[in-house]
Amino acid sequence: MSTRIDARNVDVYYGDFHAVEGVSLVMEPRTVTAFIGPSGCGKTTFLRTINRMHEVIPGAYATGEILINDQNIYATGVDPVDVRTMVGMVFQRPNPFPTMSIKDNVLAGYKLNGKKLSASQADDIVEKALRGANLWTEVKDRLGLPGSGLSGGQQQRLCIARAIAVEPDVLLMDEPCSALDPISTLAIEDLIHELKETFTIVIVTHNMQQATRVSDKTGFFNIQGVGLPGHLVEFDTTEKIFSNPRDEATERYVSGQFG
Ligand SMILES: Nc1ncnc2c1ncn2[C@@H]1O[C@H](COP(=O)(O)OP(=O)(O)OP(=O)(O)O)[C@@H](O)[C@H]1O
Ligand SMILES: [Mg+2]
Repeated sequence: MSTRIDARNVDVYYGDFHAVEGVSLVMEPRTVTAFIGPSGCGKTTFLRTINRMHEVIPGAYATGEILINDQNIYATGVDPVDVRTMVGMVFQRPNPFPTMSIKDNVLAGYKLNGKKLSASQADDIVEKALRGANLWTEVKDRLGLPGSGLSGGQQQRLCIARAIAVEPDVLLMDEPCSALDPISTLAIEDLIHELKETFTIVIVTHNMQQATRVSDKTGFFNIQGVGLPGHLVEFDTTEKIFSNPRDEATERYVSGQFG
């Protein structure tokens, strides 16, 4: 499976507030794209439009097109639930369902979609997803225990397992390591390297080293001032963004002079 994401002139609003303006970019299959930029410039907002997750916020809407394998996910008749099956998401704070077992957490996507699985199908899915998330050996003997009993880094890998269990084509990650220690962070970064063989990955990060370690392409978002919409300043190979960006604001941001 190779999935291309083509965002065309995307604007995002929270009611009257214009949060993100005019974003166009293409994310290629089997690549990792990083979004960087100062707080409040719209990285999370734009990321959520790639699986229509912003629509759960009352009053939030987007205009423009996002084509996933040439299909506009905003076309009439497209079910956002189908979009979210195809485009998985991992959030900033590990958020396993606390009272659910590790196993049921991995299967949560199937349960939400109302899909019936046989016991052996369920076992296969759980093992494959946990292996994919590099968590299997650590939890295989305690699959029935609550997900909340895992360490933070393990919980985040559990959330990644939950996201990949439904076999999406795209994985969105919003600062997936911001609550993790350096060892867990490196474990997630290694995992991202492996997952990009299968998925198109988009990650938001405030960690510049992380962007250079994990991503192929980088988009720098910025905002001109309070109350103004955020926008994509520059999108290029990660190497170019960090060594020789076109825009002066990008240069200042990646060299740590603001943000
Ligand atoms: N649910 C919401 N309702 C109204 N405004 C929102 C909502 N979520 C975000 N915003 C506003 O949209 C703008 C962009 O926010 P967003 O969370 O996308 O920024 P960000 O780049 O992800 O920031 P950070 O790096 O701090 O996570 C901000 O002005 C923010 O206050
Ligand atoms: Mg954010």
